[in-house]
This record gives sequence, C-alpha cells and structure tokens, in this order.
Amino acid sequence: MSVKFTTPKGTHDILPEQHKYVTLIKKIVRHRCRQHGMRRISTPIFEDVDVFARTVGADSDIISKEMYVFDDKKGRTFALRPENTAGVMRSYLEHGMGSLPQPVSFYYFEPFFRYDKPQKGRYRQFHQYGVEIIGESDPALDAQCIKLMDVINHDLRIHEGLSLQINTIGCPKCRPEYIEQLKNYYFGKDRSMCSDCIARQHTNPLRLLDCKQEDCHILASLAPRMSTYLCEECKTYHATLKEYLDELGLQYTENEFLVRGLDYYTKTVFEYWDEKTGAQNAIGGGGRYDGLAEILGSSVHVPAVGFAAGVERMIERIKEQNVYVPDKDKVHVFVAQLGPEAKKKSLSLLYQLRDRGIKATGALGKASMKSQLRLADKFEADYCLILGQMEVLENTIILRDMKAGKQEIIPFAKTIDKLVKLIGEEELDYYHFFEPNA
Ligand code: HAM
Repeated sequence: MSVKFTTPKGTHDILPEQHKYVTLIKKIVRHRCRQHGMRRISTPIFEDVDVFARTVGADSDIISKEMYVFDDKKGRTFALRPENTAGVMRSYLEHGMGSLPQPVSFYYFEPFFRYDKPQKGRYRQFHQYGVEIIGESDPALDAQCIKLMDVINHDLRIHEGLSLQINTIGCPKCRPEYIEQLKNYYFGKDRSMCSDCIARQHTNPLRLLDCKQEDCHILASLAPRMSTYLCEECKTYHATLKEYLDELGLQYTENEFLVRGLDYYTKTVFEYWDEKTGAQNAIGGGGRYDGLAEILGSSVHVPAVGFAAGVERMIERIKEQNVYVPDKDKVHVFVAQLGPEAKKKSLSLLYQLRDRGIKATGALGKASMKSQLRLADKFEADYCLILGQMEVLENTIILRDMKAGKQEIIPFAKTIDKLVKLIGEEELDYYHFFEPNA
C-alpha cells in the first residue's frame, strides 16, 4: 500500500506490539518511585521559551540548536519542552510548593522534543522518565537518585554493562576561579581545537572538557582539574556522597570530564553509560541544581537534585539483552458464532467473560465458521468458544483448546467457571478498585 504521510523525521509511532516495553518500564518506574514517596507530575508540553532558554543555558546544544520554538497567534514565544527539570521547578514555584513539607519529590514519564540529528538512540521526539527532589540539599538525596536509577535498571534486567560516572562541578563560590584557570589554559591554543571548542572558550568553557574530537580530548586531559579548586563545602559534599554510594553498594567511576550538557548543575553530576559506547547515548543522567529556582525568578534559594533516563534507549537494551517482557495484550479467548441467535448470545457472553477478567474477543461480522477459527489462530487465543444454532438450542457451548487442538461440549452456564480454572485466577485481567471502608 502506498502512503502519502509518514511520521516526521526523528519521530516514531509506538505500535501496539511495542507498547509492552513502555508498559513494563512505566510500571517499574511507578512502583519504585512510589516506594520512595515520590508523586507523579505532568507539566505542559510547551512552555514560555525562557523557562528553558534561561535555565538550560543559552550556549548549550539544547538551546542553541535543538529547541522547537514557535510564536502563538498573539506573538508570544513558546518552546516544545526539551527536558523537564526547568518545567517541574517552574511548577513548584508557581504553586507555592515551598510551603509543603520539604523536600517535595516528583517523578514523571513524558515525551520531550529536541531537534537533534536523528540516529540510533537519538530522536526528535523521545520519552524520559525522571525524578526531581526539590527543597533540600543533602548528599543522601543525591545518592538516592543515583541508587534509584540503578534499582530500576536492575528491575528491568538492563544493568549489565552499564557504568556509573560521577563528578562534582562545584558551586558559584568555587567554579568561577576554576573557569578562569580553564580559560587561561586554553588561551592561545585555538590551532589545536575544533571550531565548537574555540567558541566554547567564551560561551561555555566547562564543555571544553567533554569534547569528543581527538585533539580536543588530548587538550582536555591536560587541563586544570575542578577538584583542585573545589571549596571546602563542595569537597565535603562530594566526599560524603561517595561514602553514601559505597554504603549503598554502588560502584562508580570518578570522571572529572563529566560536565553534562545543561548549565543549571551545581556540585553533583552523574550519568549511566553503556560500557561499549561511553558518553555516546548515555542511558540517563542528572545532578544537583541548587541555583535553578533563582534563575527562574525565585527570591528564595531552593536546592534540588534529580535525573532523567531515556525510555527509547532503555527499550533498545531490553531488546538487545533479550529480557523477557510480559505481553498482557494477548487475548485468552476467541468467541466464534454462527446464526443470529448465537451472535446475540455471544455478544453478552463476551461481556460476561470480560467482567470476570477474561480477555475476550470475537468476530461478530459475517465470516464463516472456518474463517473465524482461522482468525482465532491468528489472534493466538489460548481457547476458542464456539456457539452455533445447535448449541443455542441445547444450551451448550463448544470449548476448544487451541494449542492441544482438542475440543469438548460443556453446559453454557459452566463456561466462565471452566475457563477461569483453565486460565488461572492470577492470569485474569482486573482493575482493582479499593474503596476505603468498603
Ligand atoms: P539529559 O542528559 O539531557 O538530561 O537527558 C537524559 C536522558 O534522556 C539521556 O541520558 C538520554 O537517555 C535521553 N535523551 C536525551 N536526548 C535524547 C534524544 N534526542 N533521543 C533519545 N533519548 C534522549 C536531562 O534531560 C535532565 N533534565 C536530567 C535531569 C533531571 N537533571 C536533573 N534532573
């Protein structure tokens, strides 16, 4: 079939057969985040462009090259969100959440947009799950963020081959002195630097440290190190964080070249890398951002820490590592029928089955019995119920075990009990709605 429209470059449909991966990740994320006392938040998909431009950093790749920006009919400039930390902080401030018991812990699972060059693991619309803990500064919170991502990776069985990279990039007290030293070191070395790095000296010197170009990489390896310039507070903070990571049994690589692509970080930064591809296509990352609230106009200092992980990259790993993923979409039963009376009875039977938690479908069109049975096969239903004129008259039904290829005639009234026994109570699909005091 020729098609006129396809998904825009760098975006993709999540087809029904792909949703089992998303569902699994979502379930595990929700479960683990709730265990941590976090609550879900969703912010608008577009925001005032300055929410991102001011916080992520005008010279960062995200803002300078990758943001989808548009004007509305009244000339206001908005951006499709490239990330969520700024939006969640905006929401925290807008709703006066500073008056709640602190810290306030959020989690999210949302789509994001970056005008990136599409390639494996890099899309223009992608999904992140993430966590933001706002209102307190303590390395124990940073450690919990790092651990939470590890726990989720373990739950999903995608932890093998991932390495945790950590660093501290100091604070407004100690970083300016370091940046000065960095600029001095790079001064006059333009000939050995890529064009991006030549510009970075003036716009975003920290990013000189994580340039992937070979010559720049060599220069960076000889550059002054942040650790030499850390103030006492940042030094102690980082040392305590490492003690907590040890306590939690987390192995990490101290990576002084890890600076992350977003400007709002202070102190802790971290990423989980695929050992094979390194900085390219990190599974997720985050860090502390104690100054972000003030950049957004807050008159009070609001320390915070968080991380986000790329759902598409996680799915890629799940597939590569052949992780078993339950497919809850498979139907248990296919109902086949012939004749107007049987069709009527099948319709109500389908709802009785579904009310009992049995996933049931049927071909209620005019297909022949033969083609209905073929369909049942295609749906990969475990069982098929067959209702013809004779069965309606005799108040019976034929139950066919599709795998065994065997069938039996049973009393119509016993259909549901018999199927529940065959499928097993634990396999049934219910929504458990618990009413208090019910
Ligand atoms: P980020 O490192 O820009 O951090 O993104 C986090 C993760 O999102 C990446 O590690 C990657 O897995 C995924 N990701 C990013 N861009 C793409 C893309 N174009 N295609 C597919 N996946 C992508 C942040 O966004 C911060 N807001 C994290 C954070 C939360 N820091 C503190 N709190």
